[in-house]
Amino acid sequence: MQICNNIGTNKNGHLTFAGFDTVALAKKYGTPLYLMDESKIREKMRAYKSAMKAYFPDGSMPLYASKAASFKHIYKIASEEKIGIDVVSVGEIFTALKSGYDLATAYFHGNNKTDEEIEFAIRHNVGHFVIDSIGELEAVDREAEKQGKIQRVLLRITPGIDAHTNKKIATGNVDSKFGVAIATGQAEEFAADALKYKNIEISGYHCHVGSQVFDAEPFVDAVDIMMDFAHRVKEKYGYEPEILNLGGGFGVRYVASQPELDIKNSIKDVAKVLYRKCSELGMNIPKILMEPGRSIVADAGMTLYTVGSVKEITNFKNYVAIDGGMTDNPRYTLYDAEYTVITASKATLEPKYRCSVVGKCCESGDIIQENVHIAKPERGDIIAVLTTGAYNYSMASNYNRIAKPPIVMLRGSEDYVAVKRETLDDLIRNDI
Ligand code: LLP
Repeated sequence: MQICNNIGTNKNGHLTFAGFDTVALAKKYGTPLYLMDESKIREKMRAYKSAMKAYFPDGSMPLYASKAASFKHIYKIASEEKIGIDVVSVGEIFTALKSGYDLATAYFHGNNKTDEEIEFAIRHNVGHFVIDSIGELEAVDREAEKQGKIQRVLLRITPGIDAHTNKKIATGNVDSKFGVAIATGQAEEFAADALKYKNIEISGYHCHVGSQVFDAEPFVDAVDIMMDFAHRVKEKYGYEPEILNLGGGFGVRYVASQPELDIKNSIKDVAKVLYRKCSELGMNIPKILMEPGRSIVADAGMTLYTVGSVKEITNFKNYVAIDGGMTDNPRYTLYDAEYTVITASKATLEPKYRCSVVGKCCESGDIIQENVHIAKPERGDIIAVLTTGAYNYSMASNYNRIAKPPIVMLRGSEDYVAVKRETLDDLIRNDI
């Protein structure tokens, strides 16, 4: 069983992706190679957009969390699909800007925005800041005043939800470095404080409960807790939010044992609770924003590698070494992240060979996946790692002075380069 409907095999026994022969693409562009299925990205953006339009109030929309994969072309797609973006640094803002994206629908996140970043974002008319701490309010107010602008903001609130996910990617718990906690009473002070600034206009609240979440439950809990909070603030200070941003976090299927998320029904479940809760509290129903990153791009991505050394340590284990590794995909090294691995050039042979697929870095932890079963490869075979569209290119590094792979987009019958392969000259570009 394939984990996504853009994967298949052809008569040459090769793996196909979005209808393309992966072995032919590896030959054409070289490896390592990131592939991205543009139709899949658009399909996911549309799925969020239409479900949110169907079940949430007018003006609700998805924001693509661009930390998942940030390069000019993806912002162009977001712009064409008319969805917002979540950006977390000047680098992401600049990339979006250079792609022609209208920053009015950009939401600027981050737990430690520098003064330079604040200045840059306000100058380029970023629509909203998501304010992460009381101190940041003052910094943004000061800069907005300097530039003669009123900056719209959301306040990032920590709802105290544990979204049953990997600890390193959970963010909604009370002691998180992000946001201001409800549980300690500080979130109310935060809201009260925010209302005092003259150059800041509060549009509402933001929360984010974690990542790789497979059901609506944590989002439903977040609505419950956030609306109770909003109600308390309304009672005390008379302020009612126009927007509630529920963050990102919907999960994707990396391996066959994981479920496939039903975006539409999950959103429907969240909406049901939102309407009920607001009516119980006598609150207006806020516009809802959601910030999916992974679930928009992950299964639109695949990485191709060429096999180099195949090493069999008698009575111990087998290693299949590929021409990339933790430099283009650090997620196993960081999180023990699961992936499906396939010998793309022998995709119709039985996956009987047990091995660890490892990279070429001078680092024992440079592992793509341990103990997988694939068709036995030899030097020169092509290996595909599936579902690499999120947090791979965006987390890539130049460790060991390894150049980053290109991103090739697949659209209909057309394949084209969206990000060029780094060259050796690129690697020394900033060396004096
Ligand atoms: N909104 C906020 C405020 C976030 O912090 C994040 C992710 C998202 C949206 C998008 O979440 P998504 O839909 O992609 O799960 N590098 C890690 C993931 C870190 C996620 C950080 N924040 C990984 O590779 O799994």
